[in-house]
Amino acid sequence: MSLLAITLCLLLFFAHYYVLHGVAEASSRGSFGRKKGAAAFTDPSTLDGICDSSVIVHGYQCQELSVTTEDGYILSVQRIPEGRRAENNSGNGNNKQPVILQHGILVDGRTWLLNSPEQNLPLILADNGFDVWIANTRGTTFSRNHTSLDPSQSAYWDWTWNELASCDLPAVFDYVSSQTGGQKIHYVGHSLGTLIALASFSEGKLVNQVKSAALLSSIAYLSHMKSRLIDLAARFHMDELLRILGLSEFIPKGLPVVRCLRRLCALPGVNCNNLLTALTGKNCCLNSSAFDLFLINEPLSTSTKNLIHLAQVVRSGVLAKFKHFGQLYSPIYNLSNIPHELPLFISYGGQDALSDVLDVTTLLDYYLKVHDDNKHSVLFIKDYAHFDFVMGDNAKDILYNEVISFFNRQFN
Ligand SMILES: *[C@@H]1O[C@H](CO)[C@@H](O)[C@H](O)[C@H]1NC(C)=O
Ligand SMILES: *[C@@H]1O[C@H](CO)[C@@H](O)[C@H](O)[C@H]1NC(C)=O
Ligand SMILES: *[C@@H]1O[C@H](CO)[C@@H](O)[C@H](O)[C@H]1NC(C)=O
Ligand SMILES: *[C@@H]1O[C@H](CO)[C@@H](O)[C@H](O)[C@H]1NC(C)=O
Repeated sequence: MSLLAITLCLLLFFAHYYVLHGVAEASSRGSFGRKKGAAAFTDPSTLDGICDSSVIVHGYQCQELSVTTEDGYILSVQRIPEGRRAENNSGNGNNKQPVILQHGILVDGRTWLLNSPEQNLPLILADNGFDVWIANTRGTTFSRNHTSLDPSQSAYWDWTWNELASCDLPAVFDYVSSQTGGQKIHYVGHSLGTLIALASFSEGKLVNQVKSAALLSSIAYLSHMKSRLIDLAARFHMDELLRILGLSEFIPKGLPVVRCLRRLCALPGVNCNNLLTALTGKNCCLNSSAFDLFLINEPLSTSTKNLIHLAQVVRSGVLAKFKHFGQLYSPIYNLSNIPHELPLFISYGGQDALSDVLDVTTLLDYYLKVHDDNKHSVLFIKDYAHFDFVMGDNAKDILYNEVISFFNRQFN
């Protein structure tokens, strides 16, 4: 697919945004889960939960749970307490080590579950004797409830990844800890899920609760990002444009855009992996049927403010808190403050356009001072791009088995 075609879709996408905003204002939006006007968003009440659609069907137990953050967001969490095979299920869940899985931006916990049970990380972890907890950040399909706000209000969308680091993650950690007898918890983050964990750790949060952390497709510094589309969007201040338009919810799946993309994808010689390639790098190992599921379910919305914050990181090359309009400085996250004894498994890919090798090297050398030893492990996967880490059909052999043996090496 040519860059021109993608650009056209993106333009349509921004135009659509404007229209959507108008429509949303004009039509009366119902209560949670019953919006009609914009019709750009799948009504969650018509969907099976993540447990029903993606876990129980494969013969695993799964519980739908919810966690409320200190700022009132009600997040859905799925627990897969044990594996499918009887011999690994002796004893109760409390003897098993808990693991929290945190997805990246514009997706939700379902991305972990798109591949077959033999190939996807949550079920592989469950089969290896772990107690698995899947987190879903605020604003995603199953985490749109709030104690006092509604997603149709712009106040609901007044947050960035800063709040994902300071509210969502701690709430999920506290909850899992309370349900598992105060055990220390392993963590797996992908993409933005790595950034928010590093930000939390650098502020001294979670460090007493986490046993070890595996960061897949680590991002923290974005100054060498090769994703031309995202880089251009950031440098041309597309994000500011959105802010000026006053939009608070960012819904990439708005119908005209999806239709445009689908039509482009259907053209002879056009493979939709190419669109993803432009955004994320050349993923080597995606199963096309899993990828179709991905197109149906994802991407999901996030807050415009979150994208503005990420664009600030891209432009400045500094991992800092959200800079308000007119503000000159904002406090930085000092990653050197992450305790060096915190066991970290860091993996990154040679083809990843979002997590550039140079940026990861900066992270490792200057900030984390992580060297391969018993506490730390660094895995470079030459052929992998951004989504291979969650959806690669060979990820079990190349990556997940390494994560599991890393977790099993952390004894204290
Ligand atoms: C792709 O995934 C589907 C569904 O999980 C599976 O049946 C198929 O064998 C996979 N294809 C390959 C090439 O792994
Ligand atoms: C049971 O767990 C152990 C270690 O946790 C693992 O080596 C083994 O493969 C698991 N058995 C099955 C059948 O999954
Ligand atoms: C949203 O949360 C409130 C509690 O704050 C609850 O009363 C309500 O039933 C929830 N709505 C949905 C759709 O889960
Ligand atoms: C970050 O923290 C380290 C010590 O943990 C300190 O030496 C360094 O000056 C700090 N960097 C900034 C930019 O504040």
